[in-house]
Amino acid sequence: MGRELTIAILAIAVVGLLHSTAAQKTHVVGELLGWLVPPGGNYTYETWAATQHFAVGDLLVFNFTDGDQDVARVTREAFNKCNSTDPIKLLTTSPANFTLDTTGEYYFIGTKDKHCQLGQKLAINVTAEHVSPAPSPAPRSGPVTYVVGDKLGWLVLPGGEYAYEAWAYGKTFIVGDTLVFNFVNGTQDDVATVTKSAYENCTTNSTIAVYKNSPVSILLNTTGEHFFISTYDRRCLLGQKLAINVTSGSTVQPPSSHSPSGSIAPSSHSTPYASGPGAASPPFSSAPSRIGGGYTFLLIAVAAFFY
Ligand SMILES: *[C@@H]1O[C@H](CO)[C@@H](O)[C@H](O)[C@H]1NC(C)=O
Ligand SMILES: *[C@@H]1O[C@H](CO)[C@@H](O)[C@H](O)[C@H]1NC(C)=O
Ligand SMILES: *[C@@H]1O[C@H](CO)[C@@H](O)[C@H](O)[C@H]1NC(C)=O
Ligand SMILES: *[C@@H]1O[C@H](CO)[C@@H](O)[C@H](O)[C@H]1NC(C)=O
Ligand SMILES: *[C@@H]1O[C@H](CO)[C@@H](O)[C@H](O)[C@H]1NC(C)=O
Ligand SMILES: *[C@@H]1O[C@H](CO)[C@@H](O)[C@H](O)[C@H]1NC(C)=O
Ligand SMILES: *[C@@H]1O[C@H](CO)[C@@H](O)[C@H](O)[C@H]1NC(C)=O
Ligand SMILES: *[C@@H]1O[C@H](CO)[C@@H](O)[C@H](O)[C@H]1NC(C)=O
Ligand SMILES: *[C@@H]1O[C@H](CO)[C@@H](O)[C@H](O)[C@H]1NC(C)=O
Ligand SMILES: *[C@@H]1O[C@H](CO)[C@@H](O)[C@H](O)[C@H]1NC(C)=O
Repeated sequence: MGRELTIAILAIAVVGLLHSTAAQKTHVVGELLGWLVPPGGNYTYETWAATQHFAVGDLLVFNFTDGDQDVARVTREAFNKCNSTDPIKLLTTSPANFTLDTTGEYYFIGTKDKHCQLGQKLAINVTAEHVSPAPSPAPRSGPVTYVVGDKLGWLVLPGGEYAYEAWAYGKTFIVGDTLVFNFVNGTQDDVATVTKSAYENCTTNSTIAVYKNSPVSILLNTTGEHFFISTYDRRCLLGQKLAINVTSGSTVQPPSSHSPSGSIAPSSHSTPYASGPGAASPPFSSAPSRIGGGYTFLLIAVAAFFY
């Protein structure tokens, strides 16, 4: 399948998923990674789950190698202890499908060997209805600071490119807004502004600017498309890339995606973030502890898995 086609399908999938309100969604656990002992430990499926919205009627599909893996729905206690005795339901052939027919928490583990202890476990929350992540028409009172990836931050996600496409979907970026990239500081990662061609080809040797000290705040001071990638290893190819469209505040926004008061005069451009309260916002301060030590390993291991 051609890359363009793949991206087109992903984009359609993103839009389709986010727009649907009643239709059943299919969630393939871990996307391309599938269901296995995850290279990143138990953070892998936790991270994946955080990119999803599960609603009653949705289908959860576990894709794995028969014989090597299995999947059991278990209680919370069994999940916490990786206890595979008397699971609620055990499926041993792939694809293993679970219809999410009630609200609340669902717990799944792999029962083989020490798979669960090694991180083959998934906990999800199912809600009554699909909620469109498109922003509610809350009025903007000024420039907005967006934390890229929200609490997950800037990293390679199991969903690949899908994740940041989904994150950007439905958001309105206006001149004067700020993007904040949170990642592991030091020598582990970076964010680079690049051209469209470099974004599309994941070319890392022709960056416009490279920022290495997290958190990186980038003021969106021009209209048009803005492209960001990680220059480390193959992370861009694995999906650590973001493309957004920045509009001027006076442009009329699509009514579904923005408030009537969206015509913001981009007046307060100076240091909208650095000294603002967002500098110590909860998403950032919680991210490192949540992702913690598994993060680097996840990146490397996921990269190794795919290549
Ligand atoms: C993942 O593993 C860490 C360390 O072993 C543990 O503290 C955490 O509770 C685990 N998370 C889940 C969802 O099992
Ligand atoms: C399951 O995994 C196989 C092999 O990796 C892949 O060919 C197939 O498309 C996957 N199925 C789904 C539903 O993702
Ligand atoms: C595992 O679950 C079974 C069945 O619920 C229970 O009898 C057993 O005590 C549990 N084992 C541990 C170590 O919690
Ligand atoms: C599970 O769901 C997948 C994806 O929708 C589908 O292709 C497959 O036939 C289903 N398998 C079963 C046993 O229902
Ligand atoms: C489900 O949501 C409840 C309430 O928001 C939360 O306390 C709980 O930790 C969530 N469980 C999982 C598995 O995410
Ligand atoms: C980048 O990819 C585009 C297609 O997306 C192609 O036309 C262009 O030649 C590529 N540029 C480089 C430098 O490889
Ligand atoms: C960047 O690398 C590509 C291939 O890796 C090469 O074709 C291109 O000339 C390089 N560009 C610069 C500006 O060094
Ligand atoms: C990252 O490193 C830079 C320089 O070493 C430092 O100024 C910055 O505060 C660090 N950020 C975090 C979140 O530790
Ligand atoms: C726009 O922002 C970039 C990065 O923050 C900065 O380097 C550049 O000087 C700014 N340009 C203007 C015209 O303010
Ligand atoms: C930006 O908007 C233009 C025009 O609507 C569109 O063609 C382009 O694909 C958009 N780019 C991104 C990165 O969303």
